[in-house]
Amino acid sequence: MCCSTLTSLVATALADFAAILEAAKLEEAKARYLGKEGSLTALLKGLGKLPPEERKVAGAAINEAKSCIETALGARREALRFARLEAQLAAEALDVTLPGRRQSGGGLHPVTRTLDRIEQLFRSIGFTVADGPEIETDWHNFTALNTPENHPARSMHDTFYLQDAPGVLLRTHTSPVQIRSMLAHVEKYRGVPLPELRVICPGRVYRVDSDATHSPMFHQVEGLWVGKGVSFADLKGVIADFLRNFFESDDLNVRFRPSFFPFTEPSAEIDVAFMQGALKGRWLEIAGCGMVHPNVLRSGGFDPEQVTGFAFGFGPDRLTMLRYGIHDLRLFFENDLRFLSQFQ
Ligand code: DAH
Repeated sequence: MCCSTLTSLVATALADFAAILEAAKLEEAKARYLGKEGSLTALLKGLGKLPPEERKVAGAAINEAKSCIETALGARREALRFARLEAQLAAEALDVTLPGRRQSGGGLHPVTRTLDRIEQLFRSIGFTVADGPEIETDWHNFTALNTPENHPARSMHDTFYLQDAPGVLLRTHTSPVQIRSMLAHVEKYRGVPLPELRVICPGRVYRVDSDATHSPMFHQVEGLWVGKGVSFADLKGVIADFLRNFFESDDLNVRFRPSFFPFTEPSAEIDVAFMQGALKGRWLEIAGCGMVHPNVLRSGGFDPEQVTGFAFGFGPDRLTMLRYGIHDLRLFFENDLRFLSQFQ
């Protein structure tokens, strides 16, 4: 066997290995040279046929070629393993410097925050929270609240009436929920001594009105406390306490200014004045209130000879404007995220 055969065998093997890109193919190539049937193995097997004097030299040459091929094989294996790792790393690469994909968090509307807060404060003094329909009957919205047909008080509210549905309207205030709550209460306790009724009713109301301080849809929170001996003093205490808690301030003056509502007698308007801040010293009207009119108690199924009650109606939009220093009511209902996201 001549040296050049071995040299070209080694060269072919090395070129073979170098061209291979997959580990499995490399192992197949190994078998072609070093395996049982491999070309180098065949040469080794042929050694026996050589004359003894040539055998030693040829054996040494073949072994050298074999170790040369094995070294190349090992190196190629390593190279392929490294290349595979590189490819995997590249494929799975994470650019930790990329800005994260932020989930924009939702939030509560400032008026919803106010409503939640009002509910929480009134619940803490034993009020429940009731709901009523926004599409209301004329009876619940006016008549049962001591506002008979043609009563001038009806024109105080510019009402949206439903077409083709006589006697049905979008409620102009949450006061009809007073009637619904009283009727439900009386029904619930029929036949047993009637417990006190303490309820607030937050919700949307509608009037034909639109400017910086009026929106055709706005919110009210109605309050009603009916029981034996409930007085105007209770009303003043509950309201003053609520306002101090709501605004988290004792630097607050509360005034009950005589007024008129058909469903209360006497009636008052509630004004607050802050003793500090931008609005310092100005009286701001925030609610109507009064002692529930006997006719209203009767509409609700109560006996005005047995019980008395007070009621109030807050404008939570107004409370929200005061709490956050907002000057235009319409901002609440335009759904501009630049405005709304400031309250998160
Ligand atoms: N319903 C009245 C309005 O919308 C507000 C109001 C005044 C509610 C006096 C009351 C009350 O419960 O007692 O203008």
